[in-house]
Amino acid sequence: MTFKAFRVNQQEEEFSSGIEELELEDLSEGDVVIKVHYSSVNYKDAMASVKNSKIAQKYPLTPGIDLSGEVVESHSEQFREGDKVIATSYDIGVAKDGGYSEYARIPSEWIVELPEGLTLEESMIYGTAGFTAALSVHRLEEAGIRPEDGAILVTGATGGVGSMAIAMLAKLGYCVVASTGKESEHSYLKELGAKEVISREAVYSGKIKPLDKQLWAGAVDATGGNNLAAILSKLQYSGAVAVSGLTAGTDVPTTVFPFILRGVSLLGVDSVQCPMTIRRQIWNRMATDLKPEGLFEQMKNEVTLEELPETIHTLLEGKARGRNIVKL
Ligand SMILES: NC(=O)c1ccc[n+]([C@@H]2O[C@H](COP(=O)([O-])OP(=O)(O)OC[C@H]3O[C@@H](n4cnc5c(N)ncnc54)[C@H](OP(=O)(O)O)[C@@H]3O)[C@@H](O)[C@H]2O)c1
Repeated sequence: MTFKAFRVNQQEEEFSSGIEELELEDLSEGDVVIKVHYSSVNYKDAMASVKNSKIAQKYPLTPGIDLSGEVVESHSEQFREGDKVIATSYDIGVAKDGGYSEYARIPSEWIVELPEGLTLEESMIYGTAGFTAALSVHRLEEAGIRPEDGAILVTGATGGVGSMAIAMLAKLGYCVVASTGKESEHSYLKELGAKEVISREAVYSGKIKPLDKQLWAGAVDATGGNNLAAILSKLQYSGAVAVSGLTAGTDVPTTVFPFILRGVSLLGVDSVQCPMTIRRQIWNRMATDLKPEGLFEQMKNEVTLEELPETIHTLLEGKARGRNIVKL
């Protein structure tokens, strides 16, 4: 059997990417073979798919950190032929072949059964971005942040993590303030559930005070850098920020003052090595109380393997909106 996959390859300075015909034996090993129905495009996928990637850990590589589909062969007791499953994170699409392929071989320890209440397509409209947003919301709840405490800021609002976080928080009854660099997308963000939309500059204006006016009870931040430092200085007393990303940078020029004078908490969010018990719990919540019914269509943009290079380019330029899913 041969099938189509989007592959990237780099040998020294020679980089290539495109669609290839593969056989199962060409893929990295795994005890479960999945007929992939959908994958998705995250920021990490875009970074794994370009020349001199700091993300790709082997070549040739089939990128795609997310996939959903049906089991067609299993050497694991946990899964049977016909099971509908989701596989995201771990080494998928980075050190092992991933979702931009009609078939994938995945270790059973990395696979989650599709929860009741979600379709294979919906699970990829979520993808890692949705999972990360859900984990961020979960972390804020664990830190004791409740809807009555005040507004929650979501940065990088038009991105995958941002769009999903807005919709989930709004569904839970939080008042969401969305921050975006895209003036043209304010009405999209309000449709997702944002009560107020502010500019990136309203979060970080070029200057960070050790302590600033207390504006938000919590924040979901997938941007990092100066933005994160500015958020810390503007959180209310006992506020918390769940941080997952770095689109604005990796260095965070903060001080100890938000922590020691306002009891602010910095909550780390990692989707990649998140333990399986929590992973299942979060996916189940994504199928129930966090599910933004009726909003998937607004967030979804469906592309084919052939359209991947253009989608990746748009994402890396920070011009994408919502979630790009790949239909196999
Ligand atoms: N920790 C984890 O497990 C985990 C999981 C998933 C993602 N991530 C990280 O989270 C981040 C977002 O991922 P994603 O898939 O949502 O990406 P995405 O869809 O590309 O969204 C990123 C958004 O960030 C904003 N942005 C871009 N450049 C910016 C800049 N220079 N300053 C401030 N904001 C900027 C843009 O939103 P606006 O134009 O609306 O401002 C953009 O749409 C990435 O860094 C990714 O690596 C981490």
